[in-house]
Amino acid sequence: AFIAHPVYSNHNHLDFNSIKELPESHAWTSLDDQNPPGSHSCGADSVPVIDLNDQNAPDLVGHACKTWGVFQVTNHGIKKSLLDDIEAKGKGLFSLPIQQKLRAARLPNGISGYGVARISSFFPKLMWSEGFTIFGSPIEHARQLWPQDYTQFCNVIEEYEKEMQELARRLIWLMLGSLGIAKEDVKWAGPKGDFKGAGAAIQMNSYPACPDPDRAMGLAAHTDSTLLTILYQNNTSGLQVLRDGSGWVTVPPIPGALVVNIGDLLHILSNGSYPSVLHRAVVNRTQHRLSVAYLYGPPSNVQISPLSKLVGPTHPPLYRPVTWTEYLGTKAKHFNKALSSVRLCI
Ligand code: SIN
Ligand code: FE2
Repeated sequence: AFIAHPVYSNHNHLDFNSIKELPESHAWTSLDDQNPPGSHSCGADSVPVIDLNDQNAPDLVGHACKTWGVFQVTNHGIKKSLLDDIEAKGKGLFSLPIQQKLRAARLPNGISGYGVARISSFFPKLMWSEGFTIFGSPIEHARQLWPQDYTQFCNVIEEYEKEMQELARRLIWLMLGSLGIAKEDVKWAGPKGDFKGAGAAIQMNSYPACPDPDRAMGLAAHTDSTLLTILYQNNTSGLQVLRDGSGWVTVPPIPGALVVNIGDLLHILSNGSYPSVLHRAVVNRTQHRLSVAYLYGPPSNVQISPLSKLVGPTHPPLYRPVTWTEYLGTKAKHFNKALSSVRLCI
């Protein structure tokens, strides 16, 4: 039977405001993950930082996509005040009493709302984090959280979505341009290349300071099931990417910069030229960390397959066509092996 534990309000939701010790349910060992939280990189390798105003930005982006699958961007056109606003809204949300947050709890099969990390079910241990996902209109959940005053939150979210959508399109064309792909080569992007009908979601993540950070995992290793993800992180580090030969490399917060990472669907579209990067978030003893991910994907029913320009006698297609919806189903079954499960045998 389920025995209520004082730190669980229900369904594994930890009340981070009252907990003082890491519960066994949240203590990770190397058996729970091939790369336990304490493992670090010792190399001097660091994730590329690209100034989008640099005239070499297209080449730099292409190179970063091929060799890292992740980079940071500056001069991206998103105002500092908007980043400050979204951070303040996120902090406000997560600092609400747990019972109030649970009014906006994500339903068992739902996408939007408050809850544990969505990848939790793939791991034996729970993560030291809480999340809030916004897919579609934020109004309903915002009203559950702040019955009197939800419009401010919604306004910030809507502006953030609008700005991020524009940046995501710009980045995709920069990335594809570096592979020699023009707008007319991607039919489903539409005549103007504006990706009409594209799917997007905002994922806010909160990582409270942790009494035992070496045994806790903020967010376990995963690749994103998107075309690309744009991440804002506050001034506390925690994001790490897995790098061949270097192990886990920390992506240091740079004030005003955004982290861009390749997702599985761009990996497929680029026929493997741009690898989706395995990443995770670790936690620390003293500082609260907040991140806001903008997840960008194709219209849900469009078949994504390696672009025909990138396929030829010496470059056979590595993946079979999949829609985003179908890919998410595959991911739910195979999780970190999802890419190999849509790989063609050649
Ligand atoms: C994510 O992978 O969705 C978030 C990672 C982070 O919090 O840095
Ligand atoms: Fe992610």
